[in-house]
Amino acid sequence: MTAPDIAAAVTVLRSGGLVAFPTETVYGLGADASNPEAVRAIYRVKGRPADHPLIVHVASAAAVPRWAAAVPPAAAALAEACWPGPLTLLLPRRADVDATVAGGRDTIGLRVPAHPLALQLLGAFDGGIAAPSANHFGRVSPTTAAHVRADLGDEVNLILDGGPCTIGVESSIVDVTVEPPALLRPGGIPLEALEAIVGGPVHTDDGGVSRAPGMLASHYAPVARVELVEDASEARRRVEQLRTLGERAELLDPGPDPDLYARHLYSWLRAADDGGVTTLVAVPPPAVGLGWAVRDRLRKAAAPR
Ligand code: TXA
Ligand code: MG
Repeated sequence: MTAPDIAAAVTVLRSGGLVAFPTETVYGLGADASNPEAVRAIYRVKGRPADHPLIVHVASAAAVPRWAAAVPPAAAALAEACWPGPLTLLLPRRADVDATVAGGRDTIGLRVPAHPLALQLLGAFDGGIAAPSANHFGRVSPTTAAHVRADLGDEVNLILDGGPCTIGVESSIVDVTVEPPALLRPGGIPLEALEAIVGGPVHTDDGGVSRAPGMLASHYAPVARVELVEDASEARRRVEQLRTLGERAELLDPGPDPDLYARHLYSWLRAADDGGVTTLVAVPPPAVGLGWAVRDRLRKAAAPR
């Protein structure tokens, strides 16, 4: 990426426009986090309810006090160990931070992304960039610039192309305003790693009601119906059975490597839709490392709509 692209993106952000940019997890739809009008444009373009808070991306942990009223010890340890990287920390929102970006909540989600282009953009902009995933509400997140173009096209002023995202699933969201810290969304930093960093348990309410709005059961869904089958040979038989019933069924079974599964998951879901697949029978990865996040997204894609 050349310097003029970054300069153009900064100009767009300063004038209240929208810039899609790569992160190591998924592409973000960015706006100046300090400009409520620009932030409202994100909600409008995404078709997202106004009470679903946005993550504010910052250049480094040094920017945290600008947004957060306090930094609990667990937050400092997690930021130190994981940033730049796929971790979002929920911290108490400073009273002078506009509530629009936080969906009206008294907490603020902060993250330092690891993609070099994102860091260049944040460095040049010298402020916080509010950014949800750059897709329409409820659909599969984009992991390439082409995905963003297909979803948002002219609705975004500029798209920075940084190649395919290397992690492929969204950041882990950890609420550090509670004790013990709570994992609200499994993501790019595995649960095991989070617990090792805080030196104790991290709460998860798997299957329970999530406290992160926007974590709806039917999120991250392709148009194709998704069925989950843990056993690979059983999954193959299920595909055959669906085909004899006249369905356009496909198998998703990339093997046991959770990192590879995460990196390509959203591309595969999109490819299924592009190919007119009616049912995708997916064999989930084991529940280790990024496998937690992939299993979470697959479960949501398979949830009744
Ligand atoms: O990897 C990521 O996190 C990507 C990239 C672009 O950074 N962003 C992303 O944003 O996934 P989004 O908006 O698609 O998902 C953010 C989630 C939403 O479920 C939102 O409700 C939750 O984070 N969230 C953000 N701030 C929150 C807050 N203050 N309280 C509760 N939930 C919050
Ligand atoms: Mg999203």
